[in-house]
Amino acid sequence: MNERLAAGRQDSFATLLGALIFAIFTYLFYDTVSIPETPLEPPDARLILRAFHYTLGLSVWALVAIRLSWWWRGPRPVPPPGLPPAAFAFSRAILLALLMTFFVTAIIGVVYAFADGQPVSFYGFRLPTLIPESYPLRAFGGYFHSAFGFYYLGLVALWLLVGIYQHVRYRAGLLRLLPGSRV
Ligand code: HEM
Repeated sequence: MNERLAAGRQDSFATLLGALIFAIFTYLFYDTVSIPETPLEPPDARLILRAFHYTLGLSVWALVAIRLSWWWRGPRPVPPPGLPPAAFAFSRAILLALLMTFFVTAIIGVVYAFADGQPVSFYGFRLPTLIPESYPLRAFGGYFHSAFGFYYLGLVALWLLVGIYQHVRYRAGLLRLLPGSRV
């Protein structure tokens, strides 16, 4: 792709991936917070929410994997007017850490689900059992999936705080904090 990038803009493929990740992740978040609020009996409601969690989580993982490879191969954005390169690099580093956290969280989620003996499906198609049931692996997966699953909230908060600071100090713009073509 030979798109010429204006200052503070990213290419259209990166913009599309960002919008899709944001939309699917928002639904995943809603699903995740609904699971513990749903009664354990009868078990059907939780099973459905879990099936959604797997499909949405694996979708986020696949899109993030493409976005990460595009990060290295795609055109490099230049900072918006007024934002020093080091400040721009810092905000990009937070975004990269967020993408990498999603990538790792989803992989550990797969380990957790299989080790717990859950049937894992993707858009209704049951995946073959990749990992046998195992208590130690379930404990490992459960702990780290949960830890990373909350760690990204800290990264989102940092992203917003740094972005607001950069706007106040450098007039970098607030819309760049939302999914879209601004960086
Ligand atoms: C970026 C993607 C994902 C994120 C951000 C995410 C996040 C979370 C969070 C925050 C929880 C709640 C943890 C807790 O209550 O302590 C959770 C639960 C869980 N996740 Fe994920 N997850 C993702 C993808 C996946 C995938 C791909 C799988 C498996 C295929 C998976 C399997 C599970 C399981 C089995 C639970 C426990 C559900 C229950 O309480 O019944 N997750 N996830």
